[in-house]
Amino acid sequence: MAQKDVYRVGVIGAGSIAQACHLPGYARSEHAQLVAFADPEPERHKEMAKLFGEMKGYAHYKDMLNKEKLDVVSVCTPNKYHKEAATAALEAKCHVLCEKPIAMTLKETDCIIAAAKKSRKKFMVGFTHRLFEGPKKCKELLQDKTLGKPFMIRVRFAHGGPYPGWAKSNWFYKQDLAAGGAMLDMGIHAIDLCLWLFGPIVGVSAKAAALVKKIEVDDNALMILEFKSGALGYIEVGWTSKPGFSGLEIYGAKGSIICDYLKGLRLCGGKASAGADSVAEWKTLTRKPTEGGWSMEIAHWMDVVTGKEKLAMTAKAGRDALEVALAAYKSSATGKRVAIG
Ligand SMILES: NC(=O)c1ccc[n+]([C@@H]2O[C@H](COP(=O)([O-])OP(=O)(O)OC[C@H]3O[C@@H](n4cnc5c(N)ncnc54)[C@H](O)[C@@H]3O)[C@@H](O)[C@H]2O)c1
Repeated sequence: MAQKDVYRVGVIGAGSIAQACHLPGYARSEHAQLVAFADPEPERHKEMAKLFGEMKGYAHYKDMLNKEKLDVVSVCTPNKYHKEAATAALEAKCHVLCEKPIAMTLKETDCIIAAAKKSRKKFMVGFTHRLFEGPKKCKELLQDKTLGKPFMIRVRFAHGGPYPGWAKSNWFYKQDLAAGGAMLDMGIHAIDLCLWLFGPIVGVSAKAAALVKKIEVDDNALMILEFKSGALGYIEVGWTSKPGFSGLEIYGAKGSIICDYLKGLRLCGGKASAGADSVAEWKTLTRKPTEGGWSMEIAHWMDVVTGKEKLAMTAKAGRDALEVALAAYKSSATGKRVAIG
């Protein structure tokens, strides 16, 4: 069948990530026609009228899907509604870009995977960090073996928390709407980067806790990862600090990368032994490791929809990352290492 040139787009959930990334991205795309959005909050409809005047607004996404004959849908709701909104959009024969985490449970995720298979439509998860210049360069340096065999990865992401200041309400802090705190919200990006860069994870040990905020879910978390390759990794995430170090570090037998989101990406040549014979020659590869991301996510997604780009942030990638995050919560609750796979 011939490719369409312009795709009719709808957005489910018109809050902060929809307004900061999805809607402006579709508005810029020559292949997208922003047709409608769905959000139950009247306040969102007022904001949307100011930002995107002529767009039709629905209180319920099912009405939007029934009436608008959409081709492409973004799911930008709180995590609790990802599964029902994504499967409904797939059943309505739309290509779906779903925000992270893909869903709250593996069972929900498997329903999405089955719906995507049945509809034969594309389904992508919004793993934004893969589209930053820094992580993309890290992937290249691992693929071309510049670092030799990688044996260790460290990822740290932190900010002051999604509410107030970012999200439209405090749903991120409610277990029944979010399914987890910082370990899931920021951790899922970090876990996905680890899987993408280092391959399958076979075990996780973790501790998550609400250390500062009086909330139902964790505001800080640590995870120790064991990779199938034998490499180790650790992830630190927090909702209670200014960034501090934010980014990732990768250590390999022939070199190291420090991808500091605030300062730039540096490559160190040398030997892993760190003995007297080690050589440390630092090169700055880019000063802007966070260029890309939200500003190009929708362009990338529309390239996936139109077949120009391969779908990489698949539902399986969403499931793999969620499996590790859920295992990390189990480890935190039991105090034991949890095996994966
Ligand atoms: N990729 C990223 O970097 C990134 C960044 C931030 C948020 N997110 C993800 O995006 C999603 C939304 O987060 P946010 O920060 O925009 O939250 P938000 O609170 O700002 O917006 C959520 C919106 O969804 C609406 N909503 C609630 N229930 C709905 C339903 N049943 N149908 C339609 N709309 C509904 C709310 O009224 C609100 O307007 C979350 O899954 C979050 O994890 C991803």
